[in-house]
Amino acid sequence: MAALIESMRMCYALPIRGFRRLLEDTTLHGYRLPANTAVLINNWSVHMDKEHWGDPEVYRPERFITETGLLREDDTFLPFGLGRRRCMGEQLAKSFLFQTFAGVLQKFQLVPADGTDLKVTALGGFNLAPKTYDIIFKSR
Ligand code: HEM
Repeated sequence: MAALIESMRMCYALPIRGFRRLLEDTTLHGYRLPANTAVLINNWSVHMDKEHWGDPEVYRPERFITETGLLREDDTFLPFGLGRRRCMGEQLAKSFLFQTFAGVLQKFQLVPADGTDLKVTALGGFNLAPKTYDIIFKSR
């Protein structure tokens, strides 16, 4: 689960979410935002915040594991949003991801095909998607 969470933190499919409309005049970090302003949420900047994560560019699932080996919640990991409009499918999505990921890893070893460079690079665009790559599923 920690590996999946860390993957979602670094390679979140929708780095910019929105739109939301302000219902009233608001001040945020010294910026005056009038009512009806459309707001986009930059999830990428939250998941890659150097001050909070220290080394956000490094894939390190241990950040989500406590000293006693339990899963650690982190308020700065927000893949399913916040508040009243938070994702309704969160529990279903989490359990689906876990079962699929664990099921595949239980049966197969995933190895890069010859000449495949598995660096974390994404295609630019509205959503983040991996560049195509060749991978071999070896039966365990
Ligand atoms: C990894 C998978 C998923 C991710 C990362 C995800 C993420 C999100 C996010 C970020 C929002 C917007 C929350 C906000 O604006 O504050 C959202 C909304 C929503 N999601 Fe998901 N979601 C996932 C899977 C699912 C699934 C499987 C379902 C349903 C079976 C689902 C149903 C919904 C619905 C209905 C909303 C709209 C809630 C509202 O506007 O009141 N999501 N999701």
